[in-house]
Amino acid sequence: MVTLSSGFFRLWLLALIGSALPLLCAQAATPAEQLAAYSARAGTPAQPTRGQQFFNNRHGHDWSCSSCHTVNPTVPGKHASTGKVIGPMAPAYNPERFTDTAKTEKWFRRNCNDVVGRECSAGEKADVLAWLLTLKP
Ligand code: HEC
Repeated sequence: MVTLSSGFFRLWLLALIGSALPLLCAQAATPAEQLAAYSARAGTPAQPTRGQQFFNNRHGHDWSCSSCHTVNPTVPGKHASTGKVIGPMAPAYNPERFTDTAKTEKWFRRNCNDVVGRECSAGEKADVLAWLLTLKP
């Protein structure tokens, strides 16, 4: 009985470690680190003004980034089709923003495809993030 239950305990421990691992490997980062990574990949310094224009441009389609995130991303946005509230995009107004590279990449991919009709380049992501980081109280 003792061997059996300690065997179960070991299994349970393994399962616990297994489920904790993805958490430990979560890609935590600061907004500044993400900006540095995008700029490095782009090979040019980010330009906040260009980022603001990109954010408010419709790129020949129905929506701009500001359709959901507002032209003033220091305040909460609203999903253009579902009406669901979206937290502010500027990190100074929302400490959760750009702190998880997997989340950031997932939404850049989805939203750029929706708005621009393709993925955003590293330079475009750097510009947008650089602009969002200029928005301070
Ligand atoms: C149709 C609505 C919609 C549009 C248009 C839209 N977004 Fe989003 N965006 C969302 C939603 C919903 C989320 C996820 C909810 C959240 O993070 O609060 C999100 C999250 C993000 C995130 C994640 C930020 C983080 O916390 O790391 C980024 C980056 C982003 N959007 C960029 C853009 C860019 C750039 C554009 C324009 C090319 C854009 N979005 C257009 C709805 C939209």
